[in-house]
Amino acid sequence: MTSQDNMSEEHLPEAAHGHGGGPVVSKDGYFADPGLPPHEHRRTDIDEKAARRAERQVAMWFLLSMLATVGFIASYVIFKPGPTHHVFIWPIGNVSPLNFALGVTLGISLFAIGAGAVHWARTLMSDEEHIAERHPIEATPEVREQVFADFRQGSKESGFGRRKLIRNTMIGAMAMVPLSAVVLFRDLGPLPEKKLDTTGWKAGMLLKNMNTGEPIQASDVQVGSLTFAMPADLSEDDEDFQERIAKDALMLVRLQPGDIKDKKSADWGYHGVLAFSKICTHVGCPISLYEQQTHHVLCPCHQSTFDLSDGARVIFGPAGHALPQLQIGVDNTGNLEALNGFTVPVGPGFWERSE
Ligand code: FES
Repeated sequence: MTSQDNMSEEHLPEAAHGHGGGPVVSKDGYFADPGLPPHEHRRTDIDEKAARRAERQVAMWFLLSMLATVGFIASYVIFKPGPTHHVFIWPIGNVSPLNFALGVTLGISLFAIGAGAVHWARTLMSDEEHIAERHPIEATPEVREQVFADFRQGSKESGFGRRKLIRNTMIGAMAMVPLSAVVLFRDLGPLPEKKLDTTGWKAGMLLKNMNTGEPIQASDVQVGSLTFAMPADLSEDDEDFQERIAKDALMLVRLQPGDIKDKKSADWGYHGVLAFSKICTHVGCPISLYEQQTHHVLCPCHQSTFDLSDGARVIFGPAGHALPQLQIGVDNTGNLEALNGFTVPVGPGFWERSE
């Protein structure tokens, strides 16, 4: 006998009564279906004027969505494309007008469809509640008995219980298979450890033009151009050339001193010639596209954009850090040289980064 069997109606708590005030515990002790509360009609169910007003409101949302879609298409015609053309929009900052217009119009278009659909559902679609009876999902005792009988029969025929040697070795084999995955992780390569913390640049290292292989004079770097450089002790014939160039590649730019916004950046250059790592701080692509009017460089992989006139800070895209700058000067023959190594790791962020 269960405690429910002992339950009498006078001991039932207040909550044990249905919506109509009747008891929800049946005589056999099970909770009875309390039923639904009485249906309350909405204004739009009983007032045709309100329904028509709601209909117009829903149509307005859908109309707004259509207008926003037209605006989205028109943005391509109206705004100048190109990731380096930016305007300041408060409070977002510098953004491409085209990207901004596309984002706003597409956002409004999608939001208005959703808002219209929600308003339609809440005001005009039927809100009558219906009870769907659930059928029991439990199998009948006969079916369950048949399943157990089949399982016992299968176990007996396979000899799984009797042939212990096979059973145990099979369990061992299945338990060891996942260990292969541990070895496969080695294919991801060795951990970078401290290798990404340092580069080949150090005080006194001359800058060599990556194309001509010649040392670079400060006067060789012209306003408006981008010059690529590598350490003078590095040669394409070196065995470790690929490994080193992936960290040591530099880009040189000359700016009018008045255009340089970051004082430390100006101090680390030589008469407006600045040297930055060429390795993108997102996932390490080489940067190459320079927009001389704005002094922006663009990474072709995922469009991170850096402002070379402002310490190469990130102004757009997924990169998380500014491009590291190398402090440079000239030797007594006028060749550009490093005055120091990089003071922060070059390239993408990684979990052992000491920055
Ligand atoms: S690697 Fe440069 S933006 Fe992704």
